[in-house]
Amino acid sequence: MKIAILFDEDKKAHSTIWSFPWITYCEENNIEYNVVNPYAIKVVDELLDYDIILWHFSNYSHTDMLMARNVLFTLEKKGKKVFPSINDSWHFDDKLAETYLLESVNAPIPSSYYYYSLKDVENAISNNSFNFPIIAKLRNGSGSHNVKLFNSKNELLNYSKKMFSSGINSAPSLVFKASSNIKSTKNLSTLIKRAKRIPEFLRSLSNAKKFNVERGYVFLQEFIPNDGYDLKIVVVGDKLSFIGRNIRKGEYRASGGGDIFYDKDKVTNDVIATAFKTSDILNFNCMGYDYVVDKNTDKGKIVEISYGFSHEALLDAKGYFDREGKWHEEPLNAPYEILRNMINQI
Ligand SMILES: Nc1ncnc2c1ncn2[C@@H]1O[C@H](COP(=O)(O)OP(=O)(O)O)[C@@H](O)[C@H]1O
Ligand SMILES: [Mg+2]
Repeated sequence: MKIAILFDEDKKAHSTIWSFPWITYCEENNIEYNVVNPYAIKVVDELLDYDIILWHFSNYSHTDMLMARNVLFTLEKKGKKVFPSINDSWHFDDKLAETYLLESVNAPIPSSYYYYSLKDVENAISNNSFNFPIIAKLRNGSGSHNVKLFNSKNELLNYSKKMFSSGINSAPSLVFKASSNIKSTKNLSTLIKRAKRIPEFLRSLSNAKKFNVERGYVFLQEFIPNDGYDLKIVVVGDKLSFIGRNIRKGEYRASGGGDIFYDKDKVTNDVIATAFKTSDILNFNCMGYDYVVDKNTDKGKIVEISYGFSHEALLDAKGYFDREGKWHEEPLNAPYEILRNMINQI
């Protein structure tokens, strides 16, 4: 069995990239692997020699978003086992695609509204088609950079006019990222760890600047009233773990804020059941679900899905739930688990 781990060793990789745990897993288990540069000419030809192909491509890299899935999906169509697969990632970093997909299987999502002309938004607003406050999101982005809350028709109308004219730049803002991180830092060692990652973020940012301006649609989600946190729920095969995330002080968004907690009582049976069910029907190898729990009904709503996340933060949960909802005191190492499952399937 031959395993290819894709990344460019010559370019400085993000320290959080899963290539490193994949390499460690192969070395610890005496599994043969090669690192392959995915940006090279004839890369598909080269990869046809392998059985398993792994690439933790990132939404912060314009290049990866441009071509990673072209390479991976071609190989999957040729019968290779690839991660992320088509099922895992055709909708990656596209909240509209995710919404259509989740609607198709009746997954628990907030009421969602999407408009492709200004006239349609204006009609919806004047017909009171939805309640305020309402959430508006760009299709892409992470860390809450492109998520907004509108309290009035007027605010939404102004945003909509912009989305159907000049558009909105989807590149993440350094100021927002840095201030969120500093505000949520509880101790010096975390601060130092985060400061060390600033150059990486700047690199990501110079990349992110290549991203398109978003326009030509308005995507809205019902605002789910909550108790001030959301849950990143991760399902890999028969295991489920979580990262609890408090919302930023004085606002409504958790993602990217850096204030995390691990109270497993917050992970309700309803959340466990719906996350496993969604992963099963949609055939995901690994999925990260962002759940907001409605404080009035206690039901979890999925506001976004993404195959990638911080596997280190997940390890800190120090355990996982099985399908019966029983907690096991053994950290879930998502990259290890993904590779182990792929090897077992061959
Ligand atoms: N429909 C919603 N109701 C309430 N809060 C939401 C909703 N959607 C998103 N949020 C909050 O905003 C944050 C960012 O939204 P999300 O869709 O996950 O975007 P991102 O891709 O930036 O992480 C979430 O972590 C959550 O705290
Ligand atoms: Mg999110």
